[in-house]
Amino acid sequence: MADASVPITALRAAGTSLVVELTEPVPRVLHWGADLGALTEAALAALALTGEPAVLNNSIDIPRRFTVWPTEADGWSGTPAHFGHLDGTSTAPRLATTRVAHHENPEGGGELVLELADTGAGLDVTLSYRLEPSGVLGVSAELTRRAAGGQDRTGGAHGPAGDDAPYDLAQAFTLLPLPRRATEILDFTGKWSRERSPQRRPLGHGTHSREVRRGKPGVDSPYLLTVGTPGFGFRTGEVWGVHVAWSGDQRYLVEQLPEGAGSHASALGGGELLRAGEIRLAPGETFRTPVTHFAWSAEGLDGLADRFHTLLRARPGHPHTARPLVLNSWEAVYFDHDLDHLLRLVDRAAEVGVERFVLDDGWFAGRRADNAGLGDWTVDPAVWPDGLSPLVDHVRALGMDFGLWVEPEMVNLDSDLAREHPDWVLGPAAGLGPSARHQYVLDVANPEVWSYLLQSLDKLVAAYDIAFLKWDHNRELHEAVHGPRDRPAAHAQVDALYRLLDALRERHPALEIESCSSGGGRVDLGILARTDRVWASDCNDPVERQTIQRWTGQLLPPELVGTHIGPSPSHTTARVSTDAFRLATALFGHAGIEQDLTLCPPEELARLTAWTALYRELRPLLHGGRTVRADLEDDVRLLHGVVAPDGSAALYCWARVATSAEGQSGRVRLPGLAADARYEVRIRTDLGLPSFHQTSGPAWLTEAVEGWIPLPGAVLTLAGLPMPTLNPEYALLIEVRRTS
Ligand code: GLA
Repeated sequence: MADASVPITALRAAGTSLVVELTEPVPRVLHWGADLGALTEAALAALALTGEPAVLNNSIDIPRRFTVWPTEADGWSGTPAHFGHLDGTSTAPRLATTRVAHHENPEGGGELVLELADTGAGLDVTLSYRLEPSGVLGVSAELTRRAAGGQDRTGGAHGPAGDDAPYDLAQAFTLLPLPRRATEILDFTGKWSRERSPQRRPLGHGTHSREVRRGKPGVDSPYLLTVGTPGFGFRTGEVWGVHVAWSGDQRYLVEQLPEGAGSHASALGGGELLRAGEIRLAPGETFRTPVTHFAWSAEGLDGLADRFHTLLRARPGHPHTARPLVLNSWEAVYFDHDLDHLLRLVDRAAEVGVERFVLDDGWFAGRRADNAGLGDWTVDPAVWPDGLSPLVDHVRALGMDFGLWVEPEMVNLDSDLAREHPDWVLGPAAGLGPSARHQYVLDVANPEVWSYLLQSLDKLVAAYDIAFLKWDHNRELHEAVHGPRDRPAAHAQVDALYRLLDALRERHPALEIESCSSGGGRVDLGILARTDRVWASDCNDPVERQTIQRWTGQLLPPELVGTHIGPSPSHTTARVSTDAFRLATALFGHAGIEQDLTLCPPEELARLTAWTALYRELRPLLHGGRTVRADLEDDVRLLHGVVAPDGSAALYCWARVATSAEGQSGRVRLPGLAADARYEVRIRTDLGLPSFHQTSGPAWLTEAVEGWIPLPGAVLTLAGLPMPTLNPEYALLIEVRRTS
């Protein structure tokens, strides 16, 4: 029977809430999802009463509870919040609450901190739920092995006879419950050049678990594991998502047991994946989990994306200056660094309107191909006899800022660094395993390695007043162990990376950093707390990019996602595409160019110039608006856009990636507009018109190509606009502005 005297705490923000009842010994989660409003005493009592499920046949004899820290002690037979042991003992955690603190944030949300103690293991757990004004809930925990001879938070002596054995933590995981109607799972997979490929499956009994053992989230990162009501889409359905803000090994799961999860149906969770023996907490030591972000929306995937975009944009460190249009040298010249050629490239870049020139791989000692040089972070005197200054000075003289590619955590065995310090390479004492892209990983947790990297990077950034580093990470960590006895090193590696990034940024507060990892292999909110954008993919093919960007945008707003126009045929798929389609596709992000402009004919340069002007004109909308994506009946036609936060303007991209059987496209609703507002619509022809698979029209389009035409919100967003049928691999840009 629920006890009406037990206090209940709710965190509420932006239409969502978490309600926790402070039951003994461990608080239970009564609700996570839609905001239940300001609950009266009676409503709280009703929620507590209805939080008690039936006692089932052949079951424990009390109603099960899904607590904030589920373990077998609660009758939870699913994945426990944590497990571990104290020298082979104390393996059945029994937690008790010792302290609760709750702070409300006047802007919405707040924080609930729960302190728990496991007397048997001498372990204190501090669990924090922080609901941000965006409605994203960040959950993290600290687990502390109590100091030797200390008392636990309940006042009890700890451990078997208070011994000093370290607590071997196997897992620490945050979990939240889902209701029965959440039955469909969406997560992501992928490979090099095809990151964030969505995959769906029904939720059955058992565990859908995604384990990442690559030392980074990977090109197949689960990214944002989402569970929703059947058939949820971009604009419809109720969805619950989880993202682990950590740049190393990790685990995501959704789990459903026949007996449910207390009064709920299943559990959604995430956390760092720990290796055996990796976290051994000596008395007095603490392990901090990464923040696991949870979000709910009743407005489909766009609603979920909107919460994350709002969360990210509210960060003090979010880039607030106009995102400069980039030229990156990679697909233009690769390793072929020739100063004259690069100077001509810089000239052309300035002519078309580039604002940042980034010199990619190939500039440092011995780096003539991808098999040598990594680790030697000095300019190659053979290729750059006068250093990078002749290039950098020219870039700056033409009004652009300068960026440089680095891959600090990596090393080629063919480098002075590896020859001088073979022991700095991460790997088993028995010998290194296979190289990947001819390279190995440095043991960044080794303080000597860490200092070497900080000094090398600091010197470079200072010497050339570098505005931007493209920070790459081109291999996975295999057998990430260090020391004579192969201690696990994956956690320490990420920890050291974060400290390195923090230290470098502290020395150079204006420095911007891009997280690249063979394209989009390290895209997570942990790295983004220390970097300014991600490189979504090495694939610049616009057909692939339409999908990669659409799904990268599920977590990240466009200004954090690098989107470049590359050459045709594409260097990663060999597909031939028009520059107009490549340009329309690359517009929706932090845009750039990655091709040899010295080879472009004048018409192409003219279109590029028009595009950079369009980007600059629309940048405030593109980088401040809400991302919207339409649910269409097939996936060969795509409609996506951005709508200004106040609804005053919008830009949509209507794209076709393949042909389909239908002649007419039918009326398509433009998402994100107000049905009761009045608007004007026009087609942007700055990049030319797409190629049409039809003779003419529709009528509105013919008029809108000539200039603004008035169309009411009800037509645009409820009835829908009859869309033209485009030839494959073309896109149409539709601009909308509100008139009243
Ligand atoms: C990785 C990156 C590319 C490029 C190369 C350079 O593959 O993803 O964009 O920087 O490294 O070697």
